[in-house]
Amino acid sequence: MKEVIIGFLGCGNVGGGVWNLLENFRKEIAHRNHLSIRVKKVLVRDVSKARSCAVPAELLTTNVEDVVSDPEISIVVEFMGGEQPATEYMLRALNAGKTVVTANKVALALNWHRLQAAAQEKNVGLYYEASVCGAIPIINVLQNSLQANRIGHMMGIINGTTNYILSRMYENGEDYKDVLGDAQRLGLAEPNPAADVEGLDAAYKLSIMASLAFHGRVPFPKVYTEGITRLTAMDISCGKEMGYVLKLLAIAKRDGNTVQVRVHPTFLPDSHPLSSVNGSFNAVYLQGHACQEMMLQGRGAGDMPTASAVVSDILRASTAEIHAHPTFSNTAEADPSLTFDDNWQCQYFLRISVEDRPGVLAKIAGWLAQENVSIAKMLQKGKADNDRVPLIIVTHAAPEKSLRKAIEAFDKDVCTVESVIRVEV
Ligand code: NAP
Ligand code: HSE
Repeated sequence: MKEVIIGFLGCGNVGGGVWNLLENFRKEIAHRNHLSIRVKKVLVRDVSKARSCAVPAELLTTNVEDVVSDPEISIVVEFMGGEQPATEYMLRALNAGKTVVTANKVALALNWHRLQAAAQEKNVGLYYEASVCGAIPIINVLQNSLQANRIGHMMGIINGTTNYILSRMYENGEDYKDVLGDAQRLGLAEPNPAADVEGLDAAYKLSIMASLAFHGRVPFPKVYTEGITRLTAMDISCGKEMGYVLKLLAIAKRDGNTVQVRVHPTFLPDSHPLSSVNGSFNAVYLQGHACQEMMLQGRGAGDMPTASAVVSDILRASTAEIHAHPTFSNTAEADPSLTFDDNWQCQYFLRISVEDRPGVLAKIAGWLAQENVSIAKMLQKGKADNDRVPLIIVTHAAPEKSLRKAIEAFDKDVCTVESVIRVEV
């Protein structure tokens, strides 16, 4: 039996789950993998804090050197969160010849090139399955199982917190702020939940997934990002009436060497496979030229689902004869062979507050037509309290910039645009 001595950086929701899984699964790991995994030191901020796992007090430390400089520790597992000091600590561990396993998509998306370079230089491993989509093995699938494919597009629900919130808003008409507290209590949300609701968490993850899918670095700043904070229960109920379900989607599409990468609230037809993915579940729907369509679904957040990915990485790292790394040139900049398209085409859902008098619809149709945007569907709601009524328009597919330009021409004395939500089919 091989003994592997590891150190933790952090011991919160995910760290507690990893501790518990290593304890509960000890016999199986010994039997299946012939490994005995021993946690030697655990870095935390506050050693006196109550924890969700029974880590012995003598293992806790506030001195990072106890983890990254201990020659007995061969694998450092990071679940502190945030870009810094997590990145510097991981670099120190790699430079000291230790393999790193991380659940931290922020640190990875922003500093992947530095981390990978250090790992390759020292001939050690860098594993990050848990950084994207919790328990779903999407990193392994993109890196290994789909090697023989040109990925044309991926659409994913890759943030559990916002999917949990939007599912509750859809089902019960609740407001997002009321539901956010529950997502935090369930341990789904980031230490700073703004990262979830502003779409940043999904954008970090998409930058990692798209880089692997397109075999070229797609840096985080290239991802167009819009969160869910401005969505209203009214948008969701109007969309529902028209047969749509609202999701925070991460979308990556490739046409030749032109790619689009975007995270934003998106209406999907209620028959779409992603529409029935609810709660903290994540799913990635993708299409490759050989594999064709596939969807992977599973728990995208929470202590045990994330621990499932972390512990699997620890086991892979402990038994790997060689540590594999992505083969594309991993630099801070975007892959020079890729062109980023910010004028993508899709349908749009517009919620407009209009004066209820003859000729108004014709004016709106005219402003849209000037930019070649045509109307696919319309729904006028009952009379509002003031002299304006809600009008919902769904356009045919149009370029983003044409839609924006058309809306700028709307006369505010006649109507105001309350919401613009993209629609994918
Ligand atoms: P968390 O509950 O806030 O835990 C963070 C842990 O790191 C705590 O133990 C904290 O110490 C420690 N820590 C933070 N900053 C530190 C510092 N400067 N020095 C020493 N210790 C420090 O966060 P979490 O939910 O477990 O998430 C951790 C990471 O996993 C994040 O990168 C997150 O994106 C990722 N992740 C989370 C989930 C999820 O479902 N929650 C899923 C996938 C990936 P104290 O306990 O003493 O405060
Ligand atoms: N806060 C993240 C989410 C955790 O809600 O998806 C998993 O990465």
